[in-house]
Amino acid sequence: MNIINDKVTAYIDEQYRPLSPELEALRLSSEEYKVPIIMRDMEGLLLNLIRLKQPRRILEIGTAIGYSAACMAEALPQCRVTTIESDPAAAEIARENIDSLGLAERITLLQGKGQEVLDTLTDAFDFVFIDAAKSHYRTFWDKVSGLCSPRAVIVCDNVLMRGTTVSGEYDPRRKHRTSIRRMRDFLSFLTDEAEAHTCILPVGDGVSISILKG
Ligand SMILES: C[S@@+](CC[C@H](N)C(=O)[O-])C[C@H]1O[C@@H](n2cnc3c(N)ncnc32)[C@H](O)[C@@H]1O
Repeated sequence: MNIINDKVTAYIDEQYRPLSPELEALRLSSEEYKVPIIMRDMEGLLLNLIRLKQPRRILEIGTAIGYSAACMAEALPQCRVTTIESDPAAAEIARENIDSLGLAERITLLQGKGQEVLDTLTDAFDFVFIDAAKSHYRTFWDKVSGLCSPRAVIVCDNVLMRGTTVSGEYDPRRKHRTSIRRMRDFLSFLTDEAEAHTCILPVGDGVSISILKG
């Protein structure tokens, strides 16, 4: 029996508790203005993965207005977060949010396309959160895996893309066929990738969690 349905998701969301009143306000305003940020259940999973892994350096691709970067920095006070955002307007709002949350010392925001900005980085990251253009996930992975320390964790959000990755019935007009094909290719690559252990979970919009072999 399929246990994932709207009732189950609503129940899980009722159990969600925000990290702080400030982050709750940021989530609510993102929802009001329809800025896509991590879903509540995904936030819980991401933050507990971080608490388990205890990374010193986190890399995020896809900042939007800075919500998930701020959550990660709040959840683990000793970590530093580098986050990349391609949209200049979103990056500016993210910078304001990060400043007003008092996190500017620990979050470095780089404005530009992930594919390009990643080529300029040299740090070794022990945790990576990929949450940007779905059709570029393979490019992000190839570049990011070269920047990771042994046994780094790489989390990719939205890999099930509202079910379209799984079945064409969720994209009847085939509007998203290119990004669907690319995501399917990416997930096939990931599950067969000898350098990492990967699982895929139906949390949020679908998430892959990979642990690099070291
Ligand atoms: C789903 S939102 C990120 C949400 C954010 N991680 C959060 O949960 O608060 C995706 C963001 O990725 C950005 N983006 C899309 N393509 C990108 C790329 N190639 N490089 C960097 N950012 C990109 C978009 O502009 C958008 O703001």
